[in-house]
Amino acid sequence: MCGIVGAIAQRPVVEILLEGLRRLEYRGYDSAGVAVLDANNTIQRTRALGRVAALEEKLQQQPARGMVGISHTRWATHGEPSERNAHPHLSSNHIAIVHNGIIENYEELREALISKGYHFESETDTEVVAHLIEETLKTESSLFDAVKAATKQLRGAYALGVISPDEPDTLIATRKGSPLIVGLGLGENFIGSDVQAMLPVTNRFIYLENGDFVKLSRHSVEIFDTEGKKLDRPIKESKACSLDSDLGEFRHYMMKEIHEQPQSVQNTLEGRLGRDTIKQCIEGENVLETLQQVKEVQIIACGTSYHAGLIARYWLESMTDISCSVEVASEYRYRRQPQRDGVLFVTISQSGETADTLAALEKAKSNKCLATLTICNVAESSLIRESDLSLMTVAGAEIGVASTKAFTTQLVCLQLLVGLLAQANGDSLGVVANIVTNLKKLPVLLESVLDKDAEIEILAEHFAEKNHALFLGRGDQYPVAMEGALKLKEISYIHAEAYPAGELKHGPLALVDNEMPIVAVAPNTTLIEKLKSNLEEVRSRGGELYLFADKKVGISQKDNIHVVEMEDVPETIAPIIYTIPLQLLSYYVAVLKGTDVDKPRNLAKSVTVE
Ligand code: G6P
Repeated sequence: MCGIVGAIAQRPVVEILLEGLRRLEYRGYDSAGVAVLDANNTIQRTRALGRVAALEEKLQQQPARGMVGISHTRWATHGEPSERNAHPHLSSNHIAIVHNGIIENYEELREALISKGYHFESETDTEVVAHLIEETLKTESSLFDAVKAATKQLRGAYALGVISPDEPDTLIATRKGSPLIVGLGLGENFIGSDVQAMLPVTNRFIYLENGDFVKLSRHSVEIFDTEGKKLDRPIKESKACSLDSDLGEFRHYMMKEIHEQPQSVQNTLEGRLGRDTIKQCIEGENVLETLQQVKEVQIIACGTSYHAGLIARYWLESMTDISCSVEVASEYRYRRQPQRDGVLFVTISQSGETADTLAALEKAKSNKCLATLTICNVAESSLIRESDLSLMTVAGAEIGVASTKAFTTQLVCLQLLVGLLAQANGDSLGVVANIVTNLKKLPVLLESVLDKDAEIEILAEHFAEKNHALFLGRGDQYPVAMEGALKLKEISYIHAEAYPAGELKHGPLALVDNEMPIVAVAPNTTLIEKLKSNLEEVRSRGGELYLFADKKVGISQKDNIHVVEMEDVPETIAPIIYTIPLQLLSYYVAVLKGTDVDKPRNLAKSVTVE
C-alpha cells in the first residue's frame, strides 16, 4: 500500500528517500517517485512505473540533488498504475505533494478547481489536493496555513507530505486516518509511513495522531492541532530492528517465513507458559479484573487475521462459557450493533495499521465496550497504541505479502487468550493445563510437518493447470480450509473457495468433476467420521481428492484420492499444524505458475486505505 518518505537535512536526501522507499517495498506498490528542491530552488521530480529499482535507474541517468524532498510508493486506487499517476503530484511546479489514503469528495473538488482554471495531468485524487493547496495559498500567508485550510475541505483519509519553493526550509505533513510518523535526527528530520523507512537515519520517533499538522525544519519539529494549538507529543525510542532481508537458502520470503514458523511459535510462547498455568502476558492495566468481567468476546480483523479469529471462536466456545462473535472489519465498522455488557473487543492484525480494523476499533471504543485488546506483530503500531490491552505475536518481521508465520503466531496468542480467560474465571474443566501441555509440543510438531515439503511439491503439479479448487474442512478446520483457499488465490491466482464439508450437498457438489481439485484437511477429531462421509460424496461423483489426513483415520491412497499422511496431533492445536501443508501447497503451485510469490499482483501487505 502507498508509502511516504520525506526528509529535510543538511545533506543530499535522494539516497535517504530511496533507501526509505526500498524499505517500504514489502507493503506492496505499483509505481514510485521522488521530488526534491534543487540548488536553484526548483522542484525536480522523477517517477517510474514498477519497482523502486526502476526509479533508481532513472535517477542514475538523470540525477536529482536536494536537501529537502518527498517520495512515495503508490498502490493504485484512483487511476491505473502509470508514471503519470505516480506521486509526487505537482501544482504548477510550485507545490509538490505525496499522499496515502483516499479523498472521497475528490470529484466535486476537481470540478471546482477545473472551473477556476486548474489543469489536471493525472486521474488521481491526490492531484486535487496539490491544486487545492495552491489555491488556498492565494489567501493564506504560509504553506503551513494553506495545507491546514485545504485539508478542511477534504473528506476521507490522508497522510500528506508537502514541499514548495516558496518555503525551501520547510516540510509540511499532516494525517487523518492514514498513518504517518515523524523521525527525529540531528540537524535533520524525516517523515515516514512506518518506522522501517527511517531506521537507517534515526530511532527516535513521534507518532502523529489524527488531525496533527507538522512543520519540519532541519532543527525543529512543531506539531499543531486543527485549531492551531501547539501540541507536545511524546518522543519514543524504537526498539524495532531492520527487516531481516536476508533470504538465506530460500528463493522467496514466503518460503523462508513458512520455515521460520517453529521458531516464531517458540518465540511467541517464550516465558508465557508455567508448568500447567499460563503466565499473565497481556500488556495493559487491570488485566485480571478485566478478564474476570468478560461475558462475550467480539473479534474483528481482515484477511488472514480474520481467519485466525474464526478459529478462536471454536476454541473459546468449546473451552469456556464465554460466547464469541467474529466479523470482518469492513462490515462491522458500518453496521449498527446493539450495546451489550461485558464485551471484550479483540482486534487481530499483523501490521497493526489496517485502516478498516482501526476504524472498527474506534467504533468499539465509542460503543463503550468493557475493554479493547489487540493481538499484533508490531509493537509501535496504531492498533497497539489505540487499544487498552495488547498481546504480542513474536513472529519477527513478515515480508511476504501472503501472511504465514503471522497467522500461526496469532493462533498461538489466541489460544493463550482463551486459556487466560478460562484461568481468570475459575477453569473447572482443566482447560488451561491441556492448552499448556499441547502448546509446549507445538514447535516440534511444526518441524515435522515441514518435512512433508517434498511430498507436497509433487502434489502441487496437479494444480498448476487448473482454474479452480475447493477446500473443505469441518469444525475449527473449516477456517483452516478458508485460509488455504485464500493462500492459493493470493499467490497462484487460481480461483479457490472453502466450504464447511457438510454444506457440499447444498450447492458446490454441482461443480465437482475431474477439473476441480478438492483439498481437505482431516485431523483425527470428533468430526472425522462426518468428514469421511462428505468426502465419499465427492469421490462417488468423480472428484479428485487431495487430503491432508491423520494416519490414524484410515483414509488410504486410491485412484482419485491423494493422501499426505499427517502425524497424530492433539485436537486443540490441530488447526495450527494443518495450516502448514496448505501454505506449502499454494507456495509450490505459485512457483510452478511463475507468479511473483512475495508481491502478488494487485495486493498490498499493509492496507492503510479503506
Ligand atoms: C492484507 C494482507 C493480508 C492480511 C490483511 C490484514 O490484505 O495482504 O495478508 O491478512 O491485509 O492485515 P493485518 O496487518 O491487519 O493482519
